[in-house]
Amino acid sequence: MPPIVDIHTHVYTPAYLDMLRSRKKVPYVHDPADQNADSRLIILSSDDSASIPADQRGRPVDSSYSDINVKLAFMRRHGITTSVISLANPWLDFLDADEAQSWTERINNDLEETCARVNSSSTKAQAEGNGGAKTLYAFGALPLSAPSPSIVSNEITRLKTLPHMRGIIMGTSGLGAGLDDPALDPIWSSLEETQTLLFLHPHYGLPDEAFGGAEATQRYGHVLPLALGFPLETTIAVTRMLLSGVFDRFPKIKILLAHSGGTLPFLAGRIESCIAHERHFVANGGTTQGPVRSVWDVLKTNIYLDAVVYGEAGLKAAIHAAGGHDRLLFGTDHPFFPPLDEKEDSEWLSVSTNFSAIEKTLSPDQEAVRAVLGGNAVRILNLN
Ligand code: URA
Ligand code: ZN
Repeated sequence: MPPIVDIHTHVYTPAYLDMLRSRKKVPYVHDPADQNADSRLIILSSDDSASIPADQRGRPVDSSYSDINVKLAFMRRHGITTSVISLANPWLDFLDADEAQSWTERINNDLEETCARVNSSSTKAQAEGNGGAKTLYAFGALPLSAPSPSIVSNEITRLKTLPHMRGIIMGTSGLGAGLDDPALDPIWSSLEETQTLLFLHPHYGLPDEAFGGAEATQRYGHVLPLALGFPLETTIAVTRMLLSGVFDRFPKIKILLAHSGGTLPFLAGRIESCIAHERHFVANGGTTQGPVRSVWDVLKTNIYLDAVVYGEAGLKAAIHAAGGHDRLLFGTDHPFFPPLDEKEDSEWLSVSTNFSAIEKTLSPDQEAVRAVLGGNAVRILNLN
């Protein structure tokens, strides 16, 4: 059986969820007084409104967010052989400086230990002929609020010594000033030097004003922040990296973009054209150094894209921008987007939509389908 590898699949480790339970401001977990009601996960700033009763804020959070056995059951249900698990947003961005390092090490060690434990019991089950072995790897988190970038670089180096780590996951805020912040250079340098893959994932979206204000945003639940805010946030973050010359200074950096790059593949031509027409840039007679490498070159050499875009148009743009299907990797975004009818033991619509978009986009080339579903991840992330 060819491998099916899910490279976009999250967990909140039990220790992390306990920490959220102890907080009263975003991000936090609210436990309703009614013991039969679901706890609520309040991570988006638009969720945390006094006008919404606490028991209805955010989204329900059940064991699928933290119990690895529930993820393994989800993998079995969808034929997924291997998952590269990552802490979900907002990671450790919000921690005070003095606790960032110890929390990061704790979370990363927990992820590593989970992978080791699951894989060794899988190997045993297979040796006993019980088949269906599931394998886990992980992307680690970074202590981005730590007092010095060297603490972040040290964690990047330390992660290389943990056998199941295959990269790191990070949001778009960087050290607090976005990804075009020159203070990030030591971190880009560590990632490049260690050839650590960065999984860049959105969390902060766009300001509510972009959607007509807080009340208008809340009127439609999470549709505007998740469908539009997230992908635009990713697009803006990578474009700022490009414009500030990160890919010129660190030409060997490797970045996996969530949600097929947000809207980057679709907008790459427009971005390139605006750069070519920008009078500020040295290349066009101005005084500001613009990017030297083209967005198309970066897309084909530095960027990998997940296939979590739920449609053929997005996948076609991703494949075209990346110069083929071999930089595209299947993902699910589990445990987000569960079925609303609570029949969690049936196939998830969010997963089947992505499976069918991949199949329809690439068929009849079954080799290409297999590559996107797993072969590319095995090669790029060096999985067994
Ligand atoms: N919603 C989130 O907050 N994060 C995800 O990764 C997906 C949906
Ligand atoms: Zn995600």
